Amino acid sequence: MAFSNVAALRELIAVVDGQIGRTSAGIGLVLGSGLGGLAQEVEDARRVPYSRLPHLAASTVQGHAGELVAGRWQGHDVLVLAGRVHRYEGHSMDQVVMPVRMLAALGIHTLIVSNAAGSVHTRLQPGNLMLIADHINFQGQNPLIGPNDERLGPRFPDMTVAYDADLRTLARKIALDQALALQEGVYAAVLGPSYETPAEIRMLAAMGADAVGMSTVPEVIAARHMGVRVLGLSCITNLGAGLGKGTLDHAHVGEVAGQATAKMVSLLGGIVRALPNTPGVRRLP
Ligand code: HPA
Repeated sequence: MAFSNVAALRELIAVVDGQIGRTSAGIGLVLGSGLGGLAQEVEDARRVPYSRLPHLAASTVQGHAGELVAGRWQGHDVLVLAGRVHRYEGHSMDQVVMPVRMLAALGIHTLIVSNAAGSVHTRLQPGNLMLIADHINFQGQNPLIGPNDERLGPRFPDMTVAYDADLRTLARKIALDQALALQEGVYAAVLGPSYETPAEIRMLAAMGADAVGMSTVPEVIAARHMGVRVLGLSCITNLGAGLGKGTLDHAHVGEVAGQATAKMVSLLGGIVRALPNTPGVRRLP
């Protein structure tokens, strides 16, 4: 990350402070395709479209509103990214991770990321929720490429436990309490925007993936770089190409994700409610 991006982050959080007031939220959430419904539950919500914030790219994808929502949810101050930007939209990796870096700079200690994903084997079925145990970066790119700024994080951040073990234990417990089935697996991120071929789905399965999508991994790398702990959840919206009958389309993906929203929101709600009420601490003061 270039030094100029630290300056950009500082400018950005100054504008956020002006728009939503100085937040001490400790928890950030990223809402994936079709999962934006959660943002409606935030109390005392202050909403800022990305287009009104400097250095943030607007999302161009249907199903992604593209706004920062600050408020209270489940008894906690939260910052919600309703809509994300993807590399396939043509935005740079720096732009893709800027919203997450913004949350980290504002002080969150915990980031919960959600996405819609395809399964690469039939043990995971559409409508299932999957706790992300680990990831594979098949995007051929990394958001940390470029000069490293030690004010943000180390040159070579560790990824041994990218998805926090305690948060995963908590997620399993809450799922059990709510009698919600929760699978667990490895999320592979590809660039998209074309969906995979059946051969690519077989390759992903052979290489240890359980689900595939076009997001999340850059955000998680950027969050871990800045010392934010991460929990990731995928909504399985479809069988990967060639595993089921018919073809894939985004409208259907959004529809299935929408149908699973209630389950996802309930699980996320239980998890957030159970977290300790630790305020965030500004990075880049
Ligand atoms: N492939 C890639 N990304 C996805 C899929 C898929 O099958 N479903 C939802 N996002």
